[in-house]
Amino acid sequence: MSSLESDNRPGPRHVAVIMDGNGRWAQARGHPRTVGHRQGAEAVKGVVRTAGEFGVSYLTLFAFSAENWKRSAREVQDLMGLLRTFVQRELDDLRDNGVCLRVIGDRTPLPEDLQDMLARAEAQTRANRRIAVTLALNYGGRQDIVNAAQQMAQGVADGELGVDEISLQAFGDALSTSSLPDPDLLVRTGGEQRISNFLLWQCAYAEMFFIDKLWPDIGPDDVHAMVETYQHRRRRFGAIIGS
Ligand code: IPE
Ligand code: IPE
Ligand code: MG
Repeated sequence: MSSLESDNRPGPRHVAVIMDGNGRWAQARGHPRTVGHRQGAEAVKGVVRTAGEFGVSYLTLFAFSAENWKRSAREVQDLMGLLRTFVQRELDDLRDNGVCLRVIGDRTPLPEDLQDMLARAEAQTRANRRIAVTLALNYGGRQDIVNAAQQMAQGVADGELGVDEISLQAFGDALSTSSLPDPDLLVRTGGEQRISNFLLWQCAYAEMFFIDKLWPDIGPDDVHAMVETYQHRRRRFGAIIGS
């Protein structure tokens, strides 16, 4: 397909990203892992900006997994600190640039001041419509599914929901991503080719794109490559569709 042809094909509406490789980026330069996370936060800013320019309406970023607590207390603390700095410094810009910021995942174990800060950021950007940026924090795909099952089981126990009303739609609505369409494209940087408990249910039909580059090295050209790669994919959803 010529690039002109691919330019006419729709780009991904929802891009989900497993931002991996910060630690290796730092280690390769003889720095502590935190330096890689800091540089990773810089990359986030650029990607949010460029994704908006490429017409991506939803960007979901895996920032901290439910399993990342297994790291050293020091690294976890540094990550929380970086998140705090990121929200503090970027909130005005995000708000003024039409970004609607939301957080998914269990935030109750996060430091309280950070929880307050995130709630404020969500409230202040709620009305924005240019791009919805969702940060997955202490997020696990399996946990999301179990929470949805519990929520629906409670509905049944309370007599508010019939067992036969547990449908694909109802299940999706009980997930933390109920306000988002399913991701069209799942990107993972850093060379690993696995989903690491990210959006398990939601990525049922996502196109996968694995990039060897480490997350802190990701820039506007890579966002362009993501969009272009997606435009060359043929999605069939189980049907038989000509090329
Ligand atoms: C991704 O980079 C960021 C988080 C998981 C918080 P890593 O910290 O996993 O970096 P690598 O994979 O060790 O290089
Ligand atoms: C996935 O990366 C989680 C985030 C990017 C936040 P990990 O580095 O934690 O994944 P594994 O351990 O290599 O599967
Ligand atoms: Mg990693």
